[in-house]
Amino acid sequence: MTAQIIDGKAISAQVLDGLEPRIAKLKSEGITPKLDVILVGENPASESYVRGKERASERLGIESHTHRLPESTSQDEVLDLVITLNEEPRVQGILVQLPLPEHIRESTVIESVLPSKDVDGFSPVNSGRLLAGEDCFAPATPSGIVELLLRSGNPPDGKHVVIVGRSNIVGKPLAALLMQKREGANATVTVCHSRTRDIEVHTRNADILVAAIGRPNFVTGDMVKDGAVVIDVGINRVDDASAKRGYRLVGDVLFEEVKEKARAITPVPGGVGPMTIAMLMSNTVKAAENSLSQ
Ligand code: GUN
Repeated sequence: MTAQIIDGKAISAQVLDGLEPRIAKLKSEGITPKLDVILVGENPASESYVRGKERASERLGIESHTHRLPESTSQDEVLDLVITLNEEPRVQGILVQLPLPEHIRESTVIESVLPSKDVDGFSPVNSGRLLAGEDCFAPATPSGIVELLLRSGNPPDGKHVVIVGRSNIVGKPLAALLMQKREGANATVTVCHSRTRDIEVHTRNADILVAAIGRPNFVTGDMVKDGAVVIDVGINRVDDASAKRGYRLVGDVLFEEVKEKARAITPVPGGVGPMTIAMLMSNTVKAAENSLSQ
């Protein structure tokens, strides 16, 4: 079987195109959506995510401002900045790039972001609303995965989705999204993780398999059912002397093996990554629209 390669770049462009008329309408009403990003320290992966966010904002005419702070910034300084942005009416979206340096408690910072500006959907109010199936900001990567499934003609309804990875950013919120009682969700969800025994017994049962563990090439061909849809969330740098930068990016899925068994598969790069940024832009536009009715 030759798998359908799910083109995250093309699908994210569709999502961004859909935002353009909404942004134009906001501007006609005197509002330019504005996203402020807080980046502490110099994590190369974070730097590259943040540049992607800046590029997408620019393309759409969304204003974006990245607050680049040194690694030595104290927790109180970060909290003070969040509070200033919470109170600034021109700012509709606030995103604190994770991970934060070790001396800063992530949960304290995340909890300080005003829920109506929390376009990452990580604050307790938004994650609670997501679990309850209420309107909220859902985290960007899980929302992007659902959008990829729907727009590539692989809806999760009634399917068995197996998620490998239980992070707060991907695994847990994705399970909550897919379990929802509505069209475009309605999945039966299994969540596996590093302590799951006989993990391949579960992954082989998946109609849709989502790998979000952060381990290069973890999912091999023998772990996948014939005809499954495979979504690879991993972005891992592996050393490669022949590559220009000295490394290359690989996913959590051994692509060359798994593509021979899967019905559809996302590549890395060019799969889930561009969707995350598109959904963040979508949440920012939604925050700006909500600000009009407040
Ligand atoms: N680090 C890795 N992914 C994300 C994300 O979606 N949002 C934030 N804030 N940090 C991240």
